[in-house]
Amino acid sequence: MKFFVDTAEIDAIAELNALGMVDGVTTNPSLIKKSGRDIIEVTKEICDLVDGPVSAEVTATDAETMIAEGRKLVKIADNIAVKVPLTWDGLQACKTLTDEGHMVNVTLCFSANQALLAAKAGATFISPFIGRLDDINLDGMDLIADIRTIYDNYGFETEILAASIRNANHVLESARIGADVITAPPAVIKAMINHPLTDKGLDAFLADIKAANIKIL
Ligand code: E4P
Repeated sequence: MKFFVDTAEIDAIAELNALGMVDGVTTNPSLIKKSGRDIIEVTKEICDLVDGPVSAEVTATDAETMIAEGRKLVKIADNIAVKVPLTWDGLQACKTLTDEGHMVNVTLCFSANQALLAAKAGATFISPFIGRLDDINLDGMDLIADIRTIYDNYGFETEILAASIRNANHVLESARIGADVITAPPAVIKAMINHPLTDKGLDAFLADIKAANIKIL
């Protein structure tokens, strides 16, 4: 499973990248706003840091302008994936940009039918939003499972990029179902390491190291 980091914060990406945890990065307008940075500048910095796909989202809602924005974004670096919304105009932009050989991430996916349309339009990634479905008392994991079944039924190569991940359990469930990629905020990836028995066990080992004066160096 690939890990994408869902942030535009350079330091946070660099920290996880040094540990081999970053296969790519996703951004969106809200994350760019939070960073306080210019979209082109910060996206270039991220692309310089990370080898894998870096999603940068268009701002337009009509296909023609989305395509123009996408063509500008892909000039930033070879590893840009143009992110477009799951609308008919977004799917038109997806088809045109993928036909031109660019990676496209179709975002704001909330149903399996939408994911089917994105795959037909040639999307490189489909981004179903787990957390936002959970927010309205639906089960985001059911959507990941449905898309996995449908894509496998017909051999679609579009990668399932589980997005809007809010906790470590979302990562675990996505892995169980077979999502190709998860994108999660740095804090969620960091929280995956937590287990009270690891802390308790280490405390006990440290006590014995001290008691027995065990030294290696
Ligand atoms: C990533 O591609 C998505 O834009 C992001 O995961 C959305 O997360 P949110 O629902 O927590 O804002």
